[in-house]
Amino acid sequence: MAASSGSSQLDSLEGRVIALAGAGGNLGPTVVRRLASTGAQLALAGRTLEPLDKLAEQAGGKIDTQALDLLDTEAARGWADGVAERLGAVDGLVHMVGGWRGGSPIEKAPLEDWDYLEPLLIRTLVHATQSLAPHLLASGRGRVVVISAGQAQAPTHPNALYAAAKAAAETWTLALADRFRGTGCTANLVVVGSIVTPAMREESPDKDFSTFTPAEEIAEAVAYLSSDAAASMNGQRLTLRGAS
Ligand SMILES: NC(=O)c1ccc[n+]([C@@H]2O[C@H](COP(=O)([O-])OP(=O)(O)OC[C@H]3O[C@@H](n4cnc5c(N)ncnc54)[C@H](OP(=O)(O)O)[C@@H]3O)[C@@H](O)[C@H]2O)c1
Repeated sequence: MAASSGSSQLDSLEGRVIALAGAGGNLGPTVVRRLASTGAQLALAGRTLEPLDKLAEQAGGKIDTQALDLLDTEAARGWADGVAERLGAVDGLVHMVGGWRGGSPIEKAPLEDWDYLEPLLIRTLVHATQSLAPHLLASGRGRVVVISAGQAQAPTHPNALYAAAKAAAETWTLALADRFRGTGCTANLVVVGSIVTPAMREESPDKDFSTFTPAEEIAEAVAYLSSDAAASMNGQRLTLRGAS
């Protein structure tokens, strides 16, 4: 696939292999379309194959898809090694596995919510980054981009457990950035508010999404952080919370 017109250092991901975890969710399609437009080779993962295959078909080009549970360490390693073998390398990871529980006053926050959020938001990240790290280091220009939430740094009490899980994921990402120091690789966070996607706008044309973070802006930030234009940005939070 050709790089987009007016290609710059920011746009030029031609030839890079980028793995996307949680690609079939709300945000995934917009990020996949943006990265596909740069000429990067993409490898999409999630638990369900169907949305990934549909996305790959829509985005065009040759896109690798695989269904796996990132809570399974062996499956995560198999995915990382398989992508490297099939596509020749892995130069990037975008972690977009998401989900939410919350809403109770903090004194009543059910710990079952933590049992759901901790594996979903932390372990999937730990497994994906541990499995891909050897390949990213071998690439010498590996990029990890993790989507975080404003709640991690500015928690509200009905979201306490969600905020704690996202904060732990942020800490892991910053520790990974420390591991990457001096290797040519980077790990950064894109911090967002509630996300509005093109599908949501289409579904609710009259709804006011002005306090939401547009998926297109997140995709732009992911493309930037995955590029040479951000080679010296490591261990940073790029915050796109708009008016929220
Ligand atoms: N949506 C928001 O308003 C919002 C706000 C702040 C931050 N964020 C963050 O932004 C990122 C993207 O959000 P999103 O709303 O697009 O997420 P999402 O749709 O809730 O989740 C993305 C995908 O994660 C996959 N997934 C869940 N568990 C998995 C596992 N064990 N192994 C592999 N894949 C798994 C799901 O695939 P299956 O459907 O196949 O299970 C799902 O399609 C997340 O990191 C989220 O925390 C989102």
